[in-house]
Amino acid sequence: MRAAVLHEHSAPPRYGEFGDPRPSGDAVVVDVEAAGLNHLDLAKASGTFYTGPPPLPSVVGSDGVGRLPDGRRVFFDTVVPPYGALAERVLVPSGALFDVADGIDGTLAAALGNSGLAAWLALEWRAGLRPGESVLVLGATGTVGTAAVQIARALGAGRVIAAARSSARLHHLNADAHVELTGDTDDVAAAMRAAAGGGVDVIIDPLWGPPALAAMGAARHGARLVQLGQQAATAIELPAPLVRSAALDIRGFAIFHAPADVRRDAYLRMTVLAASGGLTMDVQVVPLKDIAAAWERQRTGAGVKLVIACQ
Ligand SMILES: NC(=O)c1ccc[n+]([C@@H]2O[C@H](COP(=O)([O-])OP(=O)(O)OC[C@H]3O[C@@H](n4cnc5c(N)ncnc54)[C@H](OP(=O)(O)O)[C@@H]3O)[C@@H](O)[C@H]2O)c1
Repeated sequence: MRAAVLHEHSAPPRYGEFGDPRPSGDAVVVDVEAAGLNHLDLAKASGTFYTGPPPLPSVVGSDGVGRLPDGRRVFFDTVVPPYGALAERVLVPSGALFDVADGIDGTLAAALGNSGLAAWLALEWRAGLRPGESVLVLGATGTVGTAAVQIARALGAGRVIAAARSSARLHHLNADAHVELTGDTDDVAAAMRAAAGGGVDVIIDPLWGPPALAAMGAARHGARLVQLGQQAATAIELPAPLVRSAALDIRGFAIFHAPADVRRDAYLRMTVLAASGGLTMDVQVVPLKDIAAAWERQRTGAGVKLVIACQ
């Protein structure tokens, strides 16, 4: 079969031939229609991700949408190495097969995999968002961020505040207020507090660094900051009073911390929302043969969700 094959951890995968997967034990073969390209895929392929380096050679890609031999359309978020999502076929544990809502386009269903699930689960499962609470989304111009702005509203948030460093794209987001992540941290925190009408209850944080510090300065008493990425920095100097004064709750998050049933339920409700037009994402489809170029775009900031067409 044709696949995006990783030959070394320090170089992008190459388009080429890879042996076909065969069903074994409780793992089934899925014909992959489309698969999102995720920061996770690059981190795993580099060998630096905490799950350890993948075998060589192996097929890259963590999740996607495809068909089972009986024709059923499924989303999967786990693969059996050395197979991966960015291929014509993949081997998937049967417990990692999720239903996809009727009527949703396969490209959008794939795009929403890692990015949409991160936003949905961070808000609902990890933050425990309650109706009417204010939500501040950092990195709101990113794929997780744009999804989180829309999903927060769908899950019943009160005010939704979008924050990002690039103002042009920020102001296109359908949020109640927009905050630019430029200038002094105290000034950004003041702008966030004002935008929230006092303080924020839930912070979705794919950035860490100065934006996260500013957001903590805008936290209402009992706020939850869900830490899910480090696009701005891996480390910060965190003043104790900032955490203590607001009884701030910093919660680390990864999609795979959520049990499979929680992920399955969230994915279906998310794709039902998207099928009705309530959740969109800027997507660019790239053929599998162009994986090396797409990989480089993802590494340097694509500005859209890249989805690989696998057939
Ligand atoms: N924990 C999980 O389970 C999980 C799941 C999915 C994703 N993630 C992580 O979440 C993060 C975001 O993912 P994504 O798919 O949304 O990425 P993306 O589409 O590439 O977006 C990146 C976002 O980060 C912003 N950004 C980048 N560098 C920045 C900096 N130095 N200062 C401020 N903002 C900066 C970008 O702003 P511009 O628009 O201005 O470039 C954009 O808003 C990644 O680290 C990813 O690994 C984690």
